[in-house]
Amino acid sequence: MKFFIDTASLKDIQEAQDLGVLDGVTTNPSLMAKEGIGGDENVKKHYQAICEIVDGDVSAEVISTDFEGIVREGEELVKLDDQIVVKVPMIKDGIKAIKYFSERGIRTNCTLVFSAGQALLAAKAGATYVSPFIGRLDDISTDGLQLIQDIRLIYDNYGFTTEILAASVRHPMHILECAKIGADVMTGPLSAILALLKHPLTDNGLAKFLADHAKVNG
Ligand code: E4P
Repeated sequence: MKFFIDTASLKDIQEAQDLGVLDGVTTNPSLMAKEGIGGDENVKKHYQAICEIVDGDVSAEVISTDFEGIVREGEELVKLDDQIVVKVPMIKDGIKAIKYFSERGIRTNCTLVFSAGQALLAAKAGATYVSPFIGRLDDISTDGLQLIQDIRLIYDNYGFTTEILAASVRHPMHILECAKIGADVMTGPLSAILALLKHPLTDNGLAKFLADHAKVNG
């Protein structure tokens, strides 16, 4: 299972990279705004800075919602670095653009996916990744993990190679459940990744080992 971090914070990306378990980064316009990154040039420079920190795929989202605009933006974004994956919203022109990109070897991440039907369409268009937002489904009392399970079944039935990128991950149990179901990738905040480390018995056990060691070693 690949671990992506869902942030535009260079500090958090560096911390996850230093941990040695990071496979990539996903961003979106809200995450860029949260870091105060605005203006075309600044946005591009920021993506390049992210690509310098990580070795893996970096999803950069288009703002356009029409086919021509999505294609123009996507072609600009992929020129920045080989690691860039064009993140395209699940809308009619987005699907057309994903098909266009896939025919030209440009990798895509189809975002804002909330149903299995949308995921099927994204795979048929040739998306590299599909991003079902499990946390946002949970927020409206709908089972986000069930969606991951349904997409896994559909993709396996037909051998679709589109990778299931479980997005809108909020906590460590989301990561674990996605791993059990067989999501190819998860993207979440640094807090969810670091929470996997934690167990009170680990902390207690380590404290006792160190105390016992100190007793006989001064
Ligand atoms: C996906 O790539 C999105 O950036 C992200 O996972 C959305 O998460 P949120 O629902 O926590 O905003």
